[in-house]
Amino acid sequence: MKILLLGAGGFIGANLTERLVKDGQHEITALDIERAKLDETVKNGEIRFIHFDIRANEKKLERLTADHDAIIDLVAMANPSLYVSNPIDVFKLNFTENLKIAEFCVKHRKRIIQFSTCEVYGVTAARAFGKDSSKHPVPFAEDDTPLIMGPVKSHRWIYACAKQLLERVLHAYGLEEGLNYTIIRPFNFIGPRIDYLPSEQTGNPRVFSHFMNALLYGTPIKLVDGGVNYRAYTYIDDAVDCIVRIIDNRGGVCDRQIFNIGTPENEVTIKELANKMCATFDKYFRQPADPYPEIVSVSGEEFYGKGYEDCDRRIPDVTKARKLVGWRSEHDLDSVLFRTMKYFVEKHRTKQPSPGRDAVARYISREPESADFAICDGQRTDHLGNRLNVRKGRCRG
Ligand SMILES: NC(=O)c1ccc[n+]([C@@H]2O[C@H](COP(=O)([O-])OP(=O)(O)OC[C@H]3O[C@@H](n4cnc5c(N)ncnc54)[C@H](O)[C@@H]3O)[C@@H](O)[C@H]2O)c1
Repeated sequence: MKILLLGAGGFIGANLTERLVKDGQHEITALDIERAKLDETVKNGEIRFIHFDIRANEKKLERLTADHDAIIDLVAMANPSLYVSNPIDVFKLNFTENLKIAEFCVKHRKRIIQFSTCEVYGVTAARAFGKDSSKHPVPFAEDDTPLIMGPVKSHRWIYACAKQLLERVLHAYGLEEGLNYTIIRPFNFIGPRIDYLPSEQTGNPRVFSHFMNALLYGTPIKLVDGGVNYRAYTYIDDAVDCIVRIIDNRGGVCDRQIFNIGTPENEVTIKELANKMCATFDKYFRQPADPYPEIVSVSGEEFYGKGYEDCDRRIPDVTKARKLVGWRSEHDLDSVLFRTMKYFVEKHRTKQPSPGRDAVARYISREPESADFAICDGQRTDHLGNRLNVRKGRCRG
């Protein structure tokens, strides 16, 4: 199959491209305005890479769509600080420009796999009715759960609304024109190449990179609104495995379906995530000169800007992915954090020997057994008690 991967140079795109190249089943055209995360794959001549801005040339985009069998659309501004600082740009790219791609797929009768977001679910019903969602865990199911956004003045919701509207238009084109679409709603994927660290370039990357920067360079760990909100993290290789099954679409089971991709078992509060990252860093990666970052609580507006509001909790219901494509994720949270942190530590410490190397080797040799889960869980109690019970503390037991 000839696949056109739009946004292939991003975090999910680069990991997906690498996997598709490894599988060798399809002919890949990768398109993006960035290439750094794909450099190795491009250098090896394993894909055709097109440096192209989807806003720049509609005719070329249409030709490319017509020339491929399946279009995978990952292009988006997908960073909360942009939803707040550049809401119109977010809407134009994530809805208007993406809509053109969908319409080319309708016109040329091509299959489209559209990346949406778990943020389309908005806030939980518990939050909307003034209840505490930590006491009311209700998983989000693709075809049943209502989508509840915050008020218009909280313009961060423009991202979720743009994605939601695009989903609704794809559904309508499916009904009226027979468009063959599949929508994917990712729930917080992390792994190698997720983002740059703030010390590498300006801008505001996602939470994992912030915390990693703090651990490596001593910048404060900022817990937005105390870090009480929940997220469920999925390792990128697990996510890519599900995406590949959706691309393969055996028996057409993914036609006109929406899929959550997530790992409900890996749910933590952001505060717990900070604790776990500190514990993992101490156990496997810490070197004597490494700083102990300060932990501070900041408001969402202070951190992201005016118009920010957070999703309180989002638990993926992944029954559909299990039933239709036989997928479930394999990495528990300790494994996800260990692997992702290892990537960042190695990338930033290429010239330094790591005293934690023996521990790392021990960890790897035990995987994928779950022995480490118990060890890290035991440590988590310490960290919860000692490190984060105060609004301001230090990342040290
Ligand atoms: N990573 C997650 O956990 C997550 C969660 C929810 C939704 N998503 C969605 O999945 C998709 C991919 O996410 P990601 O984490 O890889 O994000 P990313 O920002 O790393 O990737 C997006 C890519 O799109 C490219 N792009 C942006 N504007 C472009 C343009 N005008 N022309 C061509 N390319 C352009 C960027 O250069 C980037 O490489 C996005 O649609 C995002 O909304 C991801």
